[in-house]
Amino acid sequence: MPATPELDPDLLDKVINLAKRRGFVFQSAEIYGGFRSTYDYGPLGVNLLRNVKQAWWRSMVQNRVDIVGIDAAILGPPAVWAASGHLETFTDPLVDCLKCKERWREDKIDGVCPNCGSTQFTEPRAFNLMFKTQAGPVEGEGSTAYLRPETAQGIFTNFANVLSSVRKKPPFGIAQVGKSFRNEITPQNFVFRTREFEQMEMEYFVPPSDAEEWYRYWIATRLAWYVDLGIPATMLQLHEHAQADLSHYSKGTTDIEFLFPWGFDELEGIANRGDYDLTQHATHSGVALDYFDQSSSERYTPYVIEPAAGATRAMMAFLLAAYHEDVVEGETRSVLRLDWRLAPYQVAVLPLSKKPELEGVSTEVLGQLQPHFMCDYDVTQSIGRRYRRQDEVGTPYCVTVDFETLNDAAVTVRDRDTTEQVRVPIDGLLAHLRSVTGQI
Ligand code: GAP
Repeated sequence: MPATPELDPDLLDKVINLAKRRGFVFQSAEIYGGFRSTYDYGPLGVNLLRNVKQAWWRSMVQNRVDIVGIDAAILGPPAVWAASGHLETFTDPLVDCLKCKERWREDKIDGVCPNCGSTQFTEPRAFNLMFKTQAGPVEGEGSTAYLRPETAQGIFTNFANVLSSVRKKPPFGIAQVGKSFRNEITPQNFVFRTREFEQMEMEYFVPPSDAEEWYRYWIATRLAWYVDLGIPATMLQLHEHAQADLSHYSKGTTDIEFLFPWGFDELEGIANRGDYDLTQHATHSGVALDYFDQSSSERYTPYVIEPAAGATRAMMAFLLAAYHEDVVEGETRSVLRLDWRLAPYQVAVLPLSKKPELEGVSTEVLGQLQPHFMCDYDVTQSIGRRYRRQDEVGTPYCVTVDFETLNDAAVTVRDRDTTEQVRVPIDGLLAHLRSVTGQI
């Protein structure tokens, strides 16, 4: 087996620093001192996060005939969360440090208070992670609502709607990307664990006898997705949960773990949820949530295989895996070797100078590329400095318009990773970029 790579001990700090400095991730409400554990995505981060979600949607929905999408509400009534088991069991063990009074998640602190070092705590008590709120102007029991702690339940409650409206039959899946909220006791490690985050979940409904086979299929398929998008296989591992550690709904769970700076940790979970969710919602709502197979004249409740990923956590993993430092022309540069499908900017158009004749051609080149690639346009500073700035945010291709362009109607295309430069005619530029990105 190939060795696990050695990580730069300062990797996390370097990536957090880069993320703030270059507009990927900002502390939320920073001008008011910051709101702990919430983050805002800046101009580059929003592109990267969107590309992660788009790559997921492409592989899970667009490129398949057996999976459809949905976008369900974030606010939900208590009945949904009573049926799903979240009201009862979606809890973490909370303890108070008897010395400094800080509150901690017991299973994350190894018996020592991270604040004051004390080993004296209260008995753990179950703390429900759901955010509770009021819906409507009248306060009271009847108006209680919850922010969803996972996107999955909106899929189960729409199972019958989807089945009747798009006429799918098992095996088929329903995918959803969106925000989830958990009142985490100890949010930590940048965007790894936050109280507001984005998930990418898919519930795959299968005949019960095929569940194990599909469970294995989705573990392999999801692992391959991360590798295809550039995470080295040596930074990923599978962790199958022991029976005793399974969630209340699960018949089997395997995590895809990524080598974060603090060690391997969960990136995505793939669970065999059995018929737990559909049965629970059918019982609580009184609406049948099963499937009649006409070919065998059998009625059954499908089992569910669920690949559940965090979009914001995946974005962090892609950033960490992409961060490199190397030496170019005697100068150390930091470079994000992001796959071009994820890069916030895929192409940067750089006129060599601010002279109007160069800017004119450059604007035309930009207009040619913008419908096909997310582009940046930069005229400030020396060309060398501009290359470094693009390398640092992961732009795979820089297109330089120079004075020669006015004679030969060609531009220089520079590759981020090799730093090699080739001269390409402007009228063949789009085809060239499509070819080097493997689109044609
Ligand atoms: N529907 C099943 C489910 O939600 P989960 O393991 O609790 O399973 C799935 O969550 C994924 O969502 C995790 O693997 C992680 O990537 C992401 N996730 C969960 N809690 C998170 C948090 N507080 N902050 C960021 N991402 C989180």
